[in-house]
Amino acid sequence: MGSKRVPAYNIHDLERLARRRLPHGLFEFITRGAEDEITLHENLASLKRIFLRQRVGIDVSDRDLSIELFGQRLPLPIIVGVTGLSGMVHYRGEVEIARAALRAGVPYTVGSTSFTALADLPAERRDKLWCQIYPTKRRDVFDYQVEKAAEARAGALVITMDSAIASNREYMRHNGFNIPIKPTLRTVIDTLAHPGWLIGTYLRYWLEGMPRFANLPPGHGQLFKKDADVTGLAFGEDFTWQDIAELRRRWPGPLVLKGISTREDAAIAADHGIDGIIVSNHGGRSLDGCVASIAALPEVVDAAGERLAVMVDGGFLRGSDIVKALAMGARAVMVGRGTLYGLAAAGYEGASRALFLYREEISRAMGLVGCRTVAALGPNHVTVPSATAMPSGWR
Ligand SMILES: Cc1cc2nc3c(=O)[nH]c(=O)nc-3n(C[C@H](O)[C@H](O)[C@H](O)COP(=O)(O)O)c2cc1C
Repeated sequence: MGSKRVPAYNIHDLERLARRRLPHGLFEFITRGAEDEITLHENLASLKRIFLRQRVGIDVSDRDLSIELFGQRLPLPIIVGVTGLSGMVHYRGEVEIARAALRAGVPYTVGSTSFTALADLPAERRDKLWCQIYPTKRRDVFDYQVEKAAEARAGALVITMDSAIASNREYMRHNGFNIPIKPTLRTVIDTLAHPGWLIGTYLRYWLEGMPRFANLPPGHGQLFKKDADVTGLAFGEDFTWQDIAELRRRWPGPLVLKGISTREDAAIAADHGIDGIIVSNHGGRSLDGCVASIAALPEVVDAAGERLAVMVDGGFLRGSDIVKALAMGARAVMVGRGTLYGLAAAGYEGASRALFLYREEISRAMGLVGCRTVAALGPNHVTVPSATAMPSGWR
């Protein structure tokens, strides 16, 4: 695991390699956030404001990073999160990243905007493939995806709750990277300046026929077609807890809600018999100005109690950050950009490298705080600042 051929010694290195390889518009798509990117930056800044409390004089020579989640033992406290358009970032990106996750023994989440259908992903262990679905305005499109997830025996169904309305990403209007993708002079020049991606990814698709969002019903998800039917992509602004209750009756396996960030919604989710929630703000890509995921974690953990598994994502670029979240009560951490940068840099090898680096860093940080197991981590291993003070002048 973790090819040494990829010259990256941390996730920041992988980000630099990704920046070099991808056209600027595509790199911005994966790295940037909504509007003023307050939440994007706050995810990172809040993690930096939490400090580890180091206990010493403990035998940490034999560390075990495994966790239990939905009845499975996972070797690492990590889930590879859904990052739409991974297939644009690298040729057959979803296949490459799924292989890396499965090789590391952790679940991979494939989503509505995958170029490879869930059923076509390699899976020695189908229960390690999680399927993410956006609530869509067209419930037939939503139901189709649920059926396909059931047919493919997905290990968990993940419903993204933080995107009732399409987010505002102004940088995409500036850089011309929008769906359906229409080439402009700017995007053509940008692409020509990145021949590795142009030849290795774009041309390969072009030769075999441009891909579509393969988890959507036939006729939908034609992102390279000028007059494409995009109705299946419209968000379900009217999607409510009633839809979740109905889904709970239909889906017998683990049901996970992604994008829960308050104690109120955590309690409602538990009342609906949900198995897990992901405290998330979509990596700062949805509602700008909302609270950092790590800052929302304590109240959600408190409200959830033992009723459901609480996971968290947003800004986890270091193993020590993951250790902080585990100490604060998260069962596992979902990573988005970390493995995606790896994928962009070097496909399967790069995504594997990202997971290798996370594992090394978690192991080191756990040992240095004096913990041999994930279960041994607790609130006494972190110093968490009291609630962020209101800015001066705030009424
Ligand atoms: C390029 C990109 C595409 C994403 N696409 C989706 C998506 O289709 N559905 C979804 O629920 N979340 C999506 N997310 C959000 C991630 O699942 C995750 O919440 C977020 O990336 C976590 O933050 P991190 O990137 O800082 O680790 C996407 C994130 C990125 C960076």
